[in-house]
Amino acid sequence: MAIVPVALGSRSYDILIEEGALDRAADHLARFARGGRLVVVTDENVAAAQLSRLEAALASGGISVEPIVLPAGESTKSWRFLETLLDRLLVLEIERGDHIVALGGGVIGDLVGFAASILKRGCGFLQVPTTLLAQVDSSVGGKTAINSKAGKNLIGAFYQPAFVLIDPSTLDSLPVREVRAGYAEVVKYGLIDDPDFFTWCESHGTALLSGDPTARLYAIERSVSAKAAIVADDERETSGRRALLNLGHTFGHALEAETGFSNTLLHGEGVAAGMALAFRFSARQGLCSDAEATRVTAHLRDAGLPYDLASAHVAAHGKTLVSHMLHDKKMAGGKLPFLLARGIGQTFLDKNVDFKDVEAFLDEEAG
Ligand code: NAD
Ligand code: GLY
Repeated sequence: MAIVPVALGSRSYDILIEEGALDRAADHLARFARGGRLVVVTDENVAAAQLSRLEAALASGGISVEPIVLPAGESTKSWRFLETLLDRLLVLEIERGDHIVALGGGVIGDLVGFAASILKRGCGFLQVPTTLLAQVDSSVGGKTAINSKAGKNLIGAFYQPAFVLIDPSTLDSLPVREVRAGYAEVVKYGLIDDPDFFTWCESHGTALLSGDPTARLYAIERSVSAKAAIVADDERETSGRRALLNLGHTFGHALEAETGFSNTLLHGEGVAAGMALAFRFSARQGLCSDAEATRVTAHLRDAGLPYDLASAHVAAHGKTLVSHMLHDKKMAGGKLPFLLARGIGQTFLDKNVDFKDVEAFLDEEAG
């Protein structure tokens, strides 16, 4: 078992990572179950695969579960289902001192976190992530949000969970494509500032993707440790350090927008292609070597992830893709901050990228 602390003063919390932790949930979550009850919010797929496990574990500790099961998919991160969820929580008479459990991927985690931030002016919530993406990224750090007509994640709050319980064995029921998409976020930590971890990914990525418990436990612990350190340093993304976590996201966002934020390209897949593009663009600008950009591209390709426009199912050219970037919420003073790299593990924020260069680069990539 590993415990990774997130040091945020009065908002500090622990991330517990343990194979089989869900089956010992009563030990880990009893202190949050006021009156011997926990409300567990999940989606239909996770309910079918993991909810009964959690219910049985909590029942063995005398804790009853009030489940709230929402539809699966990105469209659940919406005003409609926020209202549905809040109404259900109010009927259940949730109080400020209660903790709502988010059992699921980033969609459930982001929605429940945002609901908790506004219910009775803020009640508690716990993250029990069940996708690799949520276990290594979205369950930690307190970014919560829903989507709106104007774009993704535009309505939300920084609101930290009180505890994060990660059981890697929940990934056994996750479709392999979703595991791969989450793996892109694992690789991201190596590319940002940990070249040794990227080398580890090159050697152990295949084992991790095929469910090897030792490899995935190691990758999750190393990833959340990296994220916890960044969040403790720059909780609200003001100093620029937390922005490093957006490596690959500006290119990736453009690809996701072009494919309609649909199943054609999952978020993690967009990030994978986006990271490969960020490295190749960095090489084109003379910032990093072609060899390093090729190494990044090769690893993502070998992991079965998209690594260019074609493998991301995008046929658009530079102008269209740059126009998607200009709608990105991270636009500041008319310029988009870009995460570029001087090498593997040497990512940095450049606020002065010339869009003509990006456009020309993407035109070349489009062929
Ligand atoms: P998701 O929550 O939609 O889960 C992916 C799919 O897997 C869904 O169909 C879900 O029902 C299913 N699923 C989840 N766990 C399962 C399991 N153990 N067994 C079987 N099926 C399972 O998607 P995601 O990739 O986890 O999260 C994507 C969301 O996360 C996006 O909305 C993105 O904006 C958000 N996100 C947030 C942050 C953050 O810091 N808050 C960071 C990255 C991404
Ligand atoms: N996933 C990016 C962040 O948490 O800042």
